[in-house]
Amino acid sequence: MEIIKTKNKLQELVGKLKNNGKTIGLVPTMGALHEGHLQLIRRCAKENDVCIVSIFVNPTQFNDKNDLAKYPRTLEADAKLLEKNNCFAIFAPEVDEVYSSEELNSTFEFNFNGLDEVMEGKFRPGHFNGVVQIVGKLFELTTPDKAYFGEKDFQQLAIIRHLVATKSYPIEIIGCPIVREESDLALSSRNALLSESEKQIAINIYKTLLKSIDYQNEKSIKETIDWVITTINNIDGLCVEYFEIVDGKTLQSIQNWDDANYIVGCITVFCGTVRLIDNIQYK
Ligand code: PAF
Repeated sequence: MEIIKTKNKLQELVGKLKNNGKTIGLVPTMGALHEGHLQLIRRCAKENDVCIVSIFVNPTQFNDKNDLAKYPRTLEADAKLLEKNNCFAIFAPEVDEVYSSEELNSTFEFNFNGLDEVMEGKFRPGHFNGVVQIVGKLFELTTPDKAYFGEKDFQQLAIIRHLVATKSYPIEIIGCPIVREESDLALSSRNALLSESEKQIAINIYKTLLKSIDYQNEKSIKETIDWVITTINNIDGLCVEYFEIVDGKTLQSIQNWDDANYIVGCITVFCGTVRLIDNIQYK
């Protein structure tokens, strides 16, 4: 397994692979790999001739400098895990290999068709501009046949599908189910920032979402949203940033359970200072 640091080397490798008729799968990550990533990577390695994993903590998608500074960086341990999971090459560039100073100091413009105006986009302005900026670059450098993303970042996945459609990239986007701990806490690189006691508290997020499935049977969307927010906020150590019930395709809020065929509840909760996201499908 090769660790590639430069765009030139990556493009050289991709050129060779393509000349040999190999299919390429890409798993973009920011590192601090956990079982959730490994499931994407194993699937990618199985469904393509080679699996390339990018590890890059992308500064342009962080709208909070502290969040960027404390994001876990564990390249050595990640490389060991990837070696054991059929990864062919890691692309782990430094920031100045990816961005010019002009790019670092400006916002990447992109037409999201409104997909960025809700939920994460509302609370993290500019976040998705940075995500499409880096993912677009990774797609253009790697030209993968397939790229793999987790459904935990539900809005990100919808936006990446929109990016691919807008730019007509010939890439199949594969969304993979959320992987959970035995406690049902969604796996996330940010879980590494939780203390043991915070972890015990955080499991109540998905427990409440699960209970809301029964609750919503007889209640309106508004009542269900209020119930989820109140239940979670009543737990010491948890504070809901938003909970929205949306059309799973357009990500727009809906008023009635009949308004869409695919309905998802998306939540962001602070557990202490750690920001956790999760979601649940109602329909
Ligand atoms: O989901 C992530 O880890 C990141 O947003 C991604 C897709 C790797 C882009 O930096």
